[in-house]
Amino acid sequence: MSGTTTVQEKTTTVQERTTTVKEEQGLPTEVPARFDRSAWFRRDRFGMFIHWGPYAVPARGEWVRSHEQIGIEDYQFAVDGFGAEDYDPHAWAELAEAAGMKYAVLTAKHHDGFCLFDSALTEYGSMHNGIGRDLVREFLDAFRARGIKVGLYYSLLDWHRPDYPHYGDLIHPERENPAFADHKPDLESYRAYMHGQIRELCSNYGQLDILWFDFSYEGMGPQEWGAQELIAMVRELQPTALIDNRLEADGGGPGSIVTDAPTDYSGDFASPEQLIPVDGIRAEDGSPVPWEACITINNNWGYAAGDDLWKSPEQLITKLVECVAKGGNLLLNVGPDPRGRIQPEAVERLHAIGAWLAANGESVHGAGPAGLETPEWGYYTRTGNTLYAHVLRPPIGPLALTGGLLPKDIGRITLLADGRELQPCDAWVIKSYPDIPFVQFGEIGHFTYPLPDPVDTVVKIELVDVPRAAQPE
Ligand code: GLC
Repeated sequence: MSGTTTVQEKTTTVQERTTTVKEEQGLPTEVPARFDRSAWFRRDRFGMFIHWGPYAVPARGEWVRSHEQIGIEDYQFAVDGFGAEDYDPHAWAELAEAAGMKYAVLTAKHHDGFCLFDSALTEYGSMHNGIGRDLVREFLDAFRARGIKVGLYYSLLDWHRPDYPHYGDLIHPERENPAFADHKPDLESYRAYMHGQIRELCSNYGQLDILWFDFSYEGMGPQEWGAQELIAMVRELQPTALIDNRLEADGGGPGSIVTDAPTDYSGDFASPEQLIPVDGIRAEDGSPVPWEACITINNNWGYAAGDDLWKSPEQLITKLVECVAKGGNLLLNVGPDPRGRIQPEAVERLHAIGAWLAANGESVHGAGPAGLETPEWGYYTRTGNTLYAHVLRPPIGPLALTGGLLPKDIGRITLLADGRELQPCDAWVIKSYPDIPFVQFGEIGHFTYPLPDPVDTVVKIELVDVPRAAQPE
């Protein structure tokens, strides 16, 4: 049909914006005061998780006793073979520091019940299996010496204890063994042991920065753990220590920490596992909840010799950035072998992360969510009025700083890694987008240039008077 179609002149008047996008959506960006204890944690952002114990001997992961229903006697070969001959916690601490990790969490006792510390309540541990060393104390000393904050993982489950539920339990190695059909657990006795050991850890090893309990499951939860009494003891002995949420939860769900009525043992942070929360983690009122994604470098927490599904250095770097952009931390795991050696594939990846952080660390350490919509080319992180654009996917032409910024918001622009000045783009190609700021990486113009860092090029942008709610610490 002939005729002219008049295109309605679309005029966009850009409202004088007085708030950032997130606030326009009514989502608070300030972390509630109940989480004040974790201010350092929300600045440090990146930690090392270390899963180490006799399960490294069969080298099929830390759940080998449960998965293969191995009895205590048949597991003794692992206890006897766990020698820690090459254990050098100073080398571990040096590696963590080189990786840019600011805190570290070691398994003091995992589900198998074997203690890496000197407990007066049992001889089932490294003091008595031939190693004759308090592996926890040496870990704490070595990491503290490098100024790295320290945490201990403690399994609420204990498959070595006779008073712990066996037959019919959801995951115990003897859960289906008819020889244990008449076994009677004694939870009062078990709680006394478990609380006694946690008292030892909280009393005998100096200030702990994190106590990482693991985990509640069907049939074994806060009541069975004596969580109310336990948390009172921990808060009294270690008032500054952060506690995770697994006295009432597991890696799959946050528990009451996200509700308007958190329990006393709901924890100081949520602990999503092998996953980065899609939109971070918020409480029912929309306020941010501190969280830490714990993730393996291959697919096992404990040493697994046959697991060569190693995540690439590039993926690990960008996933760390994703955690920070979404308001969380990354706790990245290593599983040393029975002698205490960390696999070269893990070492290589940690050094690669550290090299990137050496040039770009201020966009991670001390940073948090930007309060802007996530751009299509990567992520934003932010510290106060300094914005970091993490460009993971190269643009054609200049980079559009989408997400809620206006050209008037943009001050000085530099490449974080070397400080070179970058220019806002005003080339003809962007004329259709007067209310979106653009940055160009090359000469003035609109040509496409390779990104300086093929993994994550960080553009540092000083924002000009962009009001925002208080920056989450
Ligand atoms: C799960 C696993 C446990 C591991 C923990 C790490 O709870 O059961 O083996 O230590 O995740 O977050």
